[in-house]
Amino acid sequence: MASQVPSTSATPDSSSTSPSRSNDPGRRFRLAVNTGGGDAPGLNAVIRSVVISALNMGWEVFGIQKGYQGLMEEGGLLPLDRSSVEGIAHLGGTILGTTNRGNPLRWPRTLPDGTVEEVDRSGDLIKAFRDHGFDALIAIGGDGSLRIAAELSEKGLPVVGVPKTIDNDLAATQVTFGFHTAVQTASDAIDKLHSTAKAHSRVMVVELMGRHTGWIALFAGLAGSADAILIPEIPFRMDRLCRDLEAKVERGPSYGIVVVAEGSRPEGGEASVVETEAGGEPWRYGGVAERVAQEIQEATGVETRSLVLGHLQRGGQPTAYDRLLALRFGAAAVDLVARTSFGCMVALDPPEVRAVPLRTAVDELKRVPVRGDVVVTARRLGISFGD
Ligand code: F6P
Repeated sequence: MASQVPSTSATPDSSSTSPSRSNDPGRRFRLAVNTGGGDAPGLNAVIRSVVISALNMGWEVFGIQKGYQGLMEEGGLLPLDRSSVEGIAHLGGTILGTTNRGNPLRWPRTLPDGTVEEVDRSGDLIKAFRDHGFDALIAIGGDGSLRIAAELSEKGLPVVGVPKTIDNDLAATQVTFGFHTAVQTASDAIDKLHSTAKAHSRVMVVELMGRHTGWIALFAGLAGSADAILIPEIPFRMDRLCRDLEAKVERGPSYGIVVVAEGSRPEGGEASVVETEAGGEPWRYGGVAERVAQEIQEATGVETRSLVLGHLQRGGQPTAYDRLLALRFGAAAVDLVARTSFGCMVALDPPEVRAVPLRTAVDELKRVPVRGDVVVTARRLGISFGD
C-alpha cells in the first residue's frame, strides 16, 4: 500500500511521525480539536490520545463542539483535561458532537423571505479561531470534513487532519479508523441472517453503507460467507445475479444471502440516490436492497426479503484494531502540530503512521480494486458479483 501514499512535501521530514522532533520543544500550544462529518467508532479514542499527548507536553486543549459550529456560537468550546477524556477510548460516538451539515465555506443563511442562501463564513471562522488564541487545530473527519480543512488551511488556518470514516474511501491512508468496526458489525449481522434465511428457505438481501465505494460490503460479505456481493465498482446484471442465486439454491443449502453496498447500480442503470449535493452529485443513497429483493423474487420465485443495516454500522464500541489506529493517529497529529507541520494529514502506511499533504489526501477517492486480491478471493470462493 506504500505506493498509494504520496511522500509528503508538507513536512520537513517525510519519515514517520515521532515525538522527539519538535521544532521548538518548549513551545506551549493552545490546541483546538473537532470532529466533523458522520461519526465513526474510534473518534473518542483519537480525542483521548490528542488530549493526553498534548497535556503531557504542557499544552492547553479545547474541543470545538459539532464540527465547526462551536467556534461560531457562544458556549461552543469545551476545555479538555484528563478527566474529560477518562474512560472514553472504548466508546462509540464523539464527546464533541458532530455534523455533516456544518460547512463554514457554505454556511446556510435564512433570508427575510424565508429562502436559504449559502455564504462563505471561513473569514469569520478564522477570526474566531484567532480571537480565542488558538495556535493549531486538529480536525478529525472524512473526505468532506478534510476537504473543508484543506481549504481552511489554504486560507491560513494552522490545521492537521486525522482521517476517519467507516467507508474507508480515502486513498492517502491504507485504512481509516471506523472501517474495521463497521465490517465487524456488518459481518455479525450477516452471520445472523444465515439462520433465518435457511429456516425459511429465503433469499435475504442486506444493504450496507459505504457511500460511493463497496469496501464494507466486500469485506463483510466475504467474512460473512455471502452468496453474492454487489458493489458500486462492479455494476451488476440482474439476470446474472438471479442465475447465480438459483444455482446456489438448487445446489443447497436452499437459501441465499446477498450483500449490497448502498451505492451499487445495475449495468446501464442508476444507483438509488435519495439526496444529491448542490452540484447534483449523489450525497445519500438508500433503497437498493428493496429494489434488488423485489426483482430477485419476481425473477426466481424464491421468497426474498430485504433489510437495511443503516447506522448500526456507525455505532457501538470500536474494535481493538480501530482503537489502536485511532490512538496512533491522535498522538501522531499532536506530533505534527509540535513540529508546526500544518496542512498535513496523518495516514497509515504500514508499519508507520506518516504525514501526507491534506490537499492531495482528499483529492482521490479510494475505490475497491476490481482485480484486487479480495475480489479475486471472493470469486474463487464462488461468490457472485452479478457480473
Ligand atoms: O460516510 C459515512 C456514512 O455512514 C455513509 O456510509 C452513508 O452513506 C452516510 O454516511 C449516511 O449519512 P447520514 O448519517 O447523513 O445518514
